[in-house]
Amino acid sequence: MNQWDCLICYNKIEADNLPAECNSCGANSKSIVLSSVEGEPADPKKFRGVAQNLEDTRDRARMKLRGLCAVYPHCDGGDDKICQKEAYGKPIGFGGAGSGSSFAANVKSLDNIRLKMRVVGDHFTPDTETTFLGEKISVPVMGASTAGIQNYNHTITEHDFCRATIRGCREAGTITWRGDTFFYTPEDNPALSAIEKEKSKVVQIFKPRAQDVLKQLIEMAEKAGCLAVGVDLDGCGSTIMARNNQPVFRKSVKDIKELVSFSSLPFITKGIMTPEDAEDCAEAGVSAVSVSNHGGRVLDCTRGVAEVLPAIAERLKGKVTITADGGVRTGYDAFKMIALGADAVLNGRDVIRAAVGSGSKGVFFQMERFKQTLRQAMMMTRCPDISSINKKVLD
Ligand SMILES: Cc1cc2nc3c(=O)[nH]c(=O)nc-3n(C[C@H](O)[C@H](O)[C@H](O)COP(=O)(O)O)c2cc1C
Repeated sequence: MNQWDCLICYNKIEADNLPAECNSCGANSKSIVLSSVEGEPADPKKFRGVAQNLEDTRDRARMKLRGLCAVYPHCDGGDDKICQKEAYGKPIGFGGAGSGSSFAANVKSLDNIRLKMRVVGDHFTPDTETTFLGEKISVPVMGASTAGIQNYNHTITEHDFCRATIRGCREAGTITWRGDTFFYTPEDNPALSAIEKEKSKVVQIFKPRAQDVLKQLIEMAEKAGCLAVGVDLDGCGSTIMARNNQPVFRKSVKDIKELVSFSSLPFITKGIMTPEDAEDCAEAGVSAVSVSNHGGRVLDCTRGVAEVLPAIAERLKGKVTITADGGVRTGYDAFKMIALGADAVLNGRDVIRAAVGSGSKGVFFQMERFKQTLRQAMMMTRCPDISSINKKVLD
């Protein structure tokens, strides 16, 4: 009898052949991997079972994402990377829109910031814990709202992808946001069904669909037990949604106000890149503004998120919660975004790769790496807790 591991719930299954699903949590066979073959000695080169660390997770993701993403140690949207090479005319994959300059600008704008090293002073153990919309999180880094991952080389189902991100973040003491895409409908919604199944606090971000559809989805999110809901306003240019009979729209302050008052949950607007849009959202009564250019996937030629964040924070800090995402690859980057005014940050691409590589455990390793590197940044800059991170720590 061979042994198999479920990458979502870590259940061990004894069976000669690949089981159709996990007999404990129901995960699809794509999330079940051979752990040991009867009579065969263990061989680390064979990628058996659940990954042991983040590097092991990335090695597996590299194999599974062949042709789409080479899971480079530094995911920067550069022209030499396979997601961006000859990008024009190619499907977007994990890359950025058009030339990829908005994606690259996110990473460059963070790379250009330097930290001030401060090593004289009392010893302390850095405390990375904070709260997000009243929920305690062990680190101010969350999984970003992402969707459509089942279509990238078909290595994981959408439902299992959502569950892996929810579980992995939960195991690391933080939370994930979940996204929305053209094959999600109110009738068949992999994110909401995963949230219900996992019974976890999750932020659900919907595409800027028609108001009545959004209201229906918000009610479903409330029933599923979400922590907060919101809309990625920058999804209004999505042509794939329209082509699949799921039209998306620009939203006015009045539209946002209507959704804020309809929802019993905190409401978030995502995709904000200017102080003017941020102030309009605050006026509409949102609980959080998510500073983001969608990882550079919706408009070519924008500035990097770290460049626009300070001006937005200057107007909104303390009035609404501010998140930032785009190019955050390590705890050092998270530290920089917080110093520039974010209350918490999100990561998209690394979490996707981790979930594809080794399910829940991969996401857990990714989040632990953020925590570890953030702790190091805090220790070396004399920041004992998250509230002591501010502009003064930047050089
Ligand atoms: C493959 C992929 C799918 C995404 N899907 C969504 C989505 O459904 N909703 C959303 O608000 N943002 C979506 N995003 C954007 C992320 O939420 C986030 O803004 C971005 O990935 C952050 O940049 P990073 O990947 O450099 O960390 C997606 C990003 C990627 C790479």
